[in-house]
Amino acid sequence: MGFATDCIHAGQEPDPSTGAIITPIFQTSTYVQEGIGQHKGYEYARTQNPTRRALEKNLAALEKGSDAYCYASGMAATHAVLSLVKAGQRVVVSDNVYGGTHRLFTKVLSRYAVESAFLDASDAAALERSAGEFALLWIETPTNPLMKVCDIAALAALAHRRGALLAVDNTFMSPFFQRPLELGADIVVHSTTKFLNGHSDSVGGVAVVRCEEHARWLQFVQNAAGAILSPFDSWLVLRGTKTLALRMERHEHNGRRVAAFLREQGKVRRVYWPGFPDHPGHDVHRRQASGFGAMIAFDLGSLEAARRLLAKVRLCSLGESLGGIETLISHPATMTHAGYSAAEREALGIVDGLVRISVGCEDADDLVADLGSALEAV
Ligand SMILES: Cc1ncc(COP(=O)(O)O)c(C=O)c1O
Repeated sequence: MGFATDCIHAGQEPDPSTGAIITPIFQTSTYVQEGIGQHKGYEYARTQNPTRRALEKNLAALEKGSDAYCYASGMAATHAVLSLVKAGQRVVVSDNVYGGTHRLFTKVLSRYAVESAFLDASDAAALERSAGEFALLWIETPTNPLMKVCDIAALAALAHRRGALLAVDNTFMSPFFQRPLELGADIVVHSTTKFLNGHSDSVGGVAVVRCEEHARWLQFVQNAAGAILSPFDSWLVLRGTKTLALRMERHEHNGRRVAAFLREQGKVRRVYWPGFPDHPGHDVHRRQASGFGAMIAFDLGSLEAARRLLAKVRLCSLGESLGGIETLISHPATMTHAGYSAAEREALGIVDGLVRISVGCEDADDLVADLGSALEAV
């Protein structure tokens, strides 16, 4: 089936007891058993829930995985994947990742005797020389917020040469534009909070896998650690994925328009968006993804300039998060990436004048007008 058809139908059979076309919210903590060991495959709702399972099947189909497991947040999904790594092993992480991911590696995983090396994964050949041995390579592409592009197929080959796994946080692109498992990655993670749900009304996460062994472990951890996605959140994300293809086309259309507009503005020093032909990762991105998405970062030169713009925008809402139908604008240095030290941010280029925008599905003319009038105050 085509992608839009899978969005609407994959994993979703009409409810067998009523024929309801929409998977019901199974808001129950347990299931009545007919006798000892006699049940319908459902024993306790941390372990199995039909609404969550329908979403997991839907997301596995969209990412072209064999299976998927949903968790209480994107970070909980990341944490579950990291439980594949054992004490004494090393992980390599692309140097520019979401601040919460950086915090999990540096402040939590470090307590379990797992060493994390943060390296620039946008140059696969350089990474091959500097990476050393590792058990897991964790990347985002494009990265949050600097939109650096990493070559998924080259990095999968690099990891596999070492007997290691490649995990890709595909939150920025969604499977509509990019499907890392088809390019050789072993695991894909999403914050479903973002484009997959798309309506800024749920927090959740998913890990999608190719192989049976990883599926078994992620299911085991889902039950053993218990950071499950609730039935209502599962239902919300299922409702969200039905329109994923439609929304992503609109996000892309608006993203293009906003990126081009920002680049023409004298007060904007630099715009980070992989759709520009002179973006260093443009060719790689074109090869591995079918669109450039709606995440854009731009540098206004100073904290004061960023503060003035963010105080003036009206239609663009100042807030953490991304991927909702409404345009969200944020200041990475003090918001999403405050967990990096000032020196780490400086070294990466997450400067105080950097603003990140998640372009929504409004009328592009209105977004450009809002940004244009806010820029007058800068
Ligand atoms: C790229 C990326 N990955 C993971 C996360 C974490 O997701 P959550 O907030 O659902 O835990 C975020 C959150 O902003 C993100 O931007």
